[in-house]
Amino acid sequence: MSDHSRCTLYTLVRMMQPKAVAEVGTLFAGTTQVLARALVENGAGEIHTTDPYGAERCPGIIAAWPQRLQAVTHFYPLNSMDFFLTLDQRRIGLDLVLVDGNHDYEFALFDLQMAARLLRPGGIIVMDNAEQTGPYQATRTFLERHAAWREIGDAVKDYDPLNPFDPTRSSVPGTTFILLQAPPHVSIGAGPHSWGQVFTDMTSMKGISLDLGSQSTAGTLFYQVIFRGFADGNRAGVELKEVGSLRVEAGGVARTIVHDLKNSLRWEGAATYPDARYSFEVDLSWQSDPGAGPLALARPPGAVGDT
Ligand SMILES: C[S@@+](CC[C@H](N)C(=O)[O-])C[C@H]1O[C@@H](n2cnc3c(N)ncnc32)[C@H](O)[C@@H]1O
Repeated sequence: MSDHSRCTLYTLVRMMQPKAVAEVGTLFAGTTQVLARALVENGAGEIHTTDPYGAERCPGIIAAWPQRLQAVTHFYPLNSMDFFLTLDQRRIGLDLVLVDGNHDYEFALFDLQMAARLLRPGGIIVMDNAEQTGPYQATRTFLERHAAWREIGDAVKDYDPLNPFDPTRSSVPGTTFILLQAPPHVSIGAGPHSWGQVFTDMTSMKGISLDLGSQSTAGTLFYQVIFRGFADGNRAGVELKEVGSLRVEAGGVARTIVHDLKNSLRWEGAATYPDARYSFEVDLSWQSDPGAGPLALARPPGAVGDT
């Protein structure tokens, strides 16, 4: 990677002071080391890096680094799908992600979408290889679907269909990066907006809580809530669903809405199973009134229990 690219990564980490950085595509851990150095200079933060073909190569390279760099670096010999799944299951929120794995369009789009899902509001994704069709077109597709995100730079805005393989395009001169920044809130549009299955200590669910950011908008929020119970080594279980909608009028001030479901979701037979555990999943779709914008949440929706 060019000196400009390495310098950009180092500077981003020094400026953002991220708690968690992720990298898809470790190769020889060159960029991993740049990112780890910046984290060590910050005095805080960790990097999670993955490469499905690096199991034999990467641990040895990282083990030869100074101890303080090793201490902040976590290598995973996984493809990006298993990597993001692992981070999600461990509930590791990300501040900065370098996407530099498989550069085919479909893979790059997946990496971008999962990075965005795990990224905290205001976080940054660095997509490498703007000059290649896969990462570049995946970024265009992503930005078309996520209006609240912005590119820091003009590589996408300046797309010229008569020059579709432009080798010079990038967000930062001297690099091959496209820099994307998440909105400062969770932006809800038509969707899909789901945060997957969240395991919970609640044994039943009677509502959802929505922390509205400060904004002016109005419309109807549609939701689907799924509450699941698992027991007896997953041989027993239930999936309880509630679909509904609520009118939201946000007049500038941040506030929390607690919305009751029409029916509480409770597994009546759970008492038979001492090992019962539960998860909830919320899916949202926002239909704004004419002229109104997307709905801004301070964080993903929460579950409200009734026990
Ligand atoms: C361009 S290299 C990464 C370079 C590295 N970031 C650097 O500049 O030092 C791309 C890496 O992505 C890895 N890779 C390929 N498919 C992948 C996938 N599905 N998930 C994660 N990494 C993948 C390859 O093994 C390769 O090592």
